[in-house]
Amino acid sequence: MSSVTWKCPSNIALVKYWGKKGNQLPANPSISFTLSNCHTITNLTFKPKENDGTLLVSFAYDGQPMPSFEPKLEIFFNKVESLFPFLPGYILEINTTNTFPHSSGIASSASGMAALALCLCSMEKEIGNTLSDDDFFKKASIAARLGSGSASRSVYGPLAMWGQSNLYSGSSDEFALKVGDVHDIFKTYCDTILIVDEGTKNVSSSVGHSLLTNHPFAPTRFEEANKNLELLKNALAKGDLILFNQVVEQEAMMLHAMMMTSNPYFLLMKPETVAIIQKVWESRKQLGLNMTITLDAGANVHLLYPAAEKNKVQEFIKKELLPYCSKNHFIHDHVGKGPEQMA
Ligand code: PMV
Repeated sequence: MSSVTWKCPSNIALVKYWGKKGNQLPANPSISFTLSNCHTITNLTFKPKENDGTLLVSFAYDGQPMPSFEPKLEIFFNKVESLFPFLPGYILEINTTNTFPHSSGIASSASGMAALALCLCSMEKEIGNTLSDDDFFKKASIAARLGSGSASRSVYGPLAMWGQSNLYSGSSDEFALKVGDVHDIFKTYCDTILIVDEGTKNVSSSVGHSLLTNHPFAPTRFEEANKNLELLKNALAKGDLILFNQVVEQEAMMLHAMMMTSNPYFLLMKPETVAIIQKVWESRKQLGLNMTITLDAGANVHLLYPAAEKNKVQEFIKKELLPYCSKNHFIHDHVGKGPEQMA
C-alpha cells in the first residue's frame, strides 16, 4: 500500500469566473489570490488490485464517512478517467480535512478538488510515470478544473489566472497559470474572511453558472470581465492600490448583480453582508486604510488589505465588524505560496 498527501489552499477570485461552456470551460478569464490558512489536506492511499475496469474509492472527511460528498466525487472520477487511466487498477482511499467550514462560500471545492488532483498526479509519479514539474502542475490544474472550475487556480501561488486571454501568453481555458509580474505588496496581501453565514449555500455555484446561459446581461458581463482583467493586470504589476480597489469591488458587485438578475433570480448576500460592506466603505477614507471588499458565491465578506496595515485593520475589524459575524467568527488569512506536498 502506498500513500501521498497534499496540503492545498483555497483561493479568492479578484476577477470572477461566473458562467461556463463545454466541458467545464470558463466563459471569461479570471484571476485570484491563492490563500494560505484556509486549506484542505488530502491523503490518498492506493493498493493494486486486478484492473477489471471498475473504480474502487472510499472517502472520509475528518476521519468520518461522508456520503453527501460521494455523488460529486463520482462525477469527478468519471471526468478524469481518461487523464488517469490506471485508476481502476487500484483500491483508493481518500482522507481529507479542511481548516474551514465546507460549502459556506469559502471555496472549499477549490482547495478540495485541487488537493485531490495533486494527489492523483503524485500517485501517477509514484507508480512510475514520468511528469516534469511543469507537466505535473498543468495536469493537476486540468484535473482540478474538471472537479470545480475555480480549483484550477489553487495549484499555483501567490496569484493564478485561468482562461484564455491575449493578455497572458500561454493562457488556456483548460488550465490555470501562475501569474508573474506582481508587485511585492500583493504577494503578502491579507484577507480576513468575515463569516456571516456558516451554513450551506441555498444555490450551488453549478446552478449559478448555468443561469448565465440565457442571462440577458451575460455578453456584457463577459466583456466587462475581460476589461477588468486588463485593468487589474496593470494594477497588480504597478502596485496601484486605488485601481486594485476599484476593479476588485466592482467585480464583486457585478457577480452578485448577475445572481440578482438571473431567471430565476436569487440573493446570497445577507443583511450583515451589506452592513459590513457599508461600514468598510464609510470608514476607510476617514481611517486612511486600504481596505477592499470582495465576495465569493456566498454571504461571507473577504476584506483585503496590505500586510503593512494589518494591525490597524484588524483592530477596526474587532471593534466595528465583529458584531455582524456569525458567532463572532472570522478567519485571518493572507496570500500564500501555493500547495505543498506533505508526504
Ligand atoms: O469553481 P466553482 O464552480 O465553485 O465557481 C466559483 C465561482 C466563484 O467563486 C463565484 C468565482 C471564482 O472565480 O472563484
